Amino acid sequence: MAAYVSPIADSATIFKDGLFNGKVLFCTGGGSGICKGMTEAVMHHGANATIVGRKLDRLIASADELAKATGRQCLAVRGDVREPEQLKDAVAKTIEKFGRIDFVICGAAGNFLAPISGLSEKGFKTVIDIDTIGTYNTIKATLPYVRQSKGSYIHVSATLHYKATPYQIHVSAAKAAVDAVSAVLAVEEGPWGIRSNVIAPGPIAGTEGAERLTTKGHDGDGWAQLPVGRLGHIKDIANATVFLFSDAASFITGQVLVVDGGSEHLRSVGLPYPQAMLDPASVQNMIKPRL
Ligand code: COA
Repeated sequence: MAAYVSPIADSATIFKDGLFNGKVLFCTGGGSGICKGMTEAVMHHGANATIVGRKLDRLIASADELAKATGRQCLAVRGDVREPEQLKDAVAKTIEKFGRIDFVICGAAGNFLAPISGLSEKGFKTVIDIDTIGTYNTIKATLPYVRQSKGSYIHVSATLHYKATPYQIHVSAAKAAVDAVSAVLAVEEGPWGIRSNVIAPGPIAGTEGAERLTTKGHDGDGWAQLPVGRLGHIKDIANATVFLFSDAASFITGQVLVVDGGSEHLRSVGLPYPQAMLDPASVQNMIKPRL
């Protein structure tokens, strides 16, 4: 019997048109991958957006693409999240063009596979600087405007630090800190009308992150054995983004939303999955008799 495969939904068919009309999104790392998909979904529902990244050519091409796809305006600003002044400049340009900031996605991140023995102190610090310090710099640059709009933050984190993940000490430390930063932001700024949540994506197909973290010869088939029967799609993260920024999530703050098809909860006992769930009789010969 074949396992169920969950459908990939499009936020445009679920959430109402114009949900974010008049709103403005500020997204770091929005030039590609997951963050670009998150930005597109928010723009589809009516928001204008600024995307910030280090590669201006890619950023401008993405901004054009996003504007054409959504009919909204998208501003591309070159900026490195490790540089507070560059973020402040990007925020100033956003205010000059759009007059406000309602939503912020702290998405810029760096990653690669390396064991402690092959990771220099600078390599470790580089990822902390991009992911953790970059998130803090983004919050500092945007907060005065997000206070004015009583807006909302989403931080893109990960699930790998919930368990010890080899070759990921730098990102584990950086993302654990991002989760902590978001929770404190939620508590300190909640009384000002601001919400802050984390989205922790699981394995998402076709992203730079997945490309960087997949080992050679690993074609991704193993990931199909998830409770939902498939790898994640960028739309899965985009849908969670629209929900968390919407008023439907107005009672949700300081939380981590894991969007991973249930993979984090899957503990193997060495039996084939999902065969052991679908046809218990077929694995009986693998189970030791009762003592
Ligand atoms: N293994 C071990 N160390 C590595 C490495 C790898 N694969 N890649 C980079 N480093 C180390 C470098 O050796 C350097 O340390 P050193 O001078 O002591 O040797 C340090 O990290 C900084 O590298 P550098 O290339 O100068 O940094 P950068 O600012 O140009 O790039 C990175 C930042 C390293 C995070 C780069 O991978 C990047 O730009 N990533 C952005 C995109 C991305 O990662 N997307 C996926 C998101 S999930």
